[in-house]
Amino acid sequence: MIPGRVIVTGGAGFIGSEVVRQALERWPDTQVVTVDALTYAGHRSNLEGADGNPRHRFVEADIRDAVAMDALVGEVKPDALVHLAAESHVDRSIEASTVFLETNVVGTGVLLEAARRHGVRRFLHVSTDEVYGDVPEPHLSRPEDPLLPRSPYAASKAASDLLARSHFTTHGLGVVITRGCNTYGPYQFPEKLLPLAITNLLLGEPVPVYGDGRQVREWIHVTDHARGILMAVESGVDGEIYPMASGERLANEDILMKVLALMGRDASVLRRVADRPGHDRRYAMDPEPSRAALGFTPVLSLQAGLEATVAWYRDHRAWWEERRSGSYADYYRRQVAQRAGWQG
Ligand SMILES: NC(=O)c1ccc[n+]([C@@H]2O[C@H](COP(=O)([O-])OP(=O)(O)OC[C@H]3O[C@@H](n4cnc5c(N)ncnc54)[C@H](O)[C@@H]3O)[C@@H](O)[C@H]2O)c1
Repeated sequence: MIPGRVIVTGGAGFIGSEVVRQALERWPDTQVVTVDALTYAGHRSNLEGADGNPRHRFVEADIRDAVAMDALVGEVKPDALVHLAAESHVDRSIEASTVFLETNVVGTGVLLEAARRHGVRRFLHVSTDEVYGDVPEPHLSRPEDPLLPRSPYAASKAASDLLARSHFTTHGLGVVITRGCNTYGPYQFPEKLLPLAITNLLLGEPVPVYGDGRQVREWIHVTDHARGILMAVESGVDGEIYPMASGERLANEDILMKVLALMGRDASVLRRVADRPGHDRRYAMDPEPSRAALGFTPVLSLQAGLEATVAWYRDHRAWWEERRSGSYADYYRRQVAQRAGWQG
């Protein structure tokens, strides 16, 4: 289906803003409504290229607000709801997890109820490879694998993933789930591994490496991830789960070495710091289900994507300097204090 009207939650965030931009371009007759509470992670300026388009409307609202969500879904009557709004940072969920339960679990429940009441045809729930928990070599996670999340963030995402699926099995709601791997690219809040490293390097600061740096992650560029989500809206089957995977799997330290090489630096700027408690050693998904069912494969190689990302952060210093000030600076100082030796 190509929706005539679509609501995108979390559309002022990193992946959501790219979903909004691509939806406006890919579906030239579609009205797109962005819903976002503009937390520390969401900014109107992330919607550059979408704001100002007559087919785009921005609504500042909280997905935990059942009355507001019911009224909005009833008013817009979207054919599809693409749900990305979430608390998204594992380290913050270790520091304080309640807001993760409220937004990721209760907020998702609120949206599912509103979608059901107002007959939304497709509910696209954006989930993550972290719901599988630690994946030992050489296994590749498949949609039918059990969910064994190990961080409060991952547990809240697993709960919302299961809740979404339960609305398909119980109520027949047109739920489709995508599970994405680690995503990188422009407009990513600088607390996450790659933008933290890139902006630290641009500021001449050291780059933290958690533990032994051998935790394996799978990487996809945000333009590919967003396109995969829209392809799942168009041709996903109700009740099905689609991996947004790339096959580009490498240890955190190795991806940092790639960034250092691109920025003309060497390993002397890396600082080993205390590991994240309960840090999963490996995430890896089998990309085949999405290739077979949706025809989805990423187009951007990791090398090309990293080059473009480094260039974007170089060219958008005001964007990330603004985000690194204020409450982020407090958060960063707390992280530094907890992981003694960070700046050592
Ligand atoms: N970044 C990744 O590597 C990755 C990988 C797989 C899946 N995901 C999932 O994709 C989605 C988007 O991730 P992201 O990296 O773009 O996150 P992000 O933190 O950049 O954006 C989240 C957005 O949600 C908004 N939001 C938070 N709480 C809200 C609330 N209560 N009501 C309304 N809006 C609220 C924020 O303001 C922000 O704009 C999340 O569901 C995340 O779990 C992310």
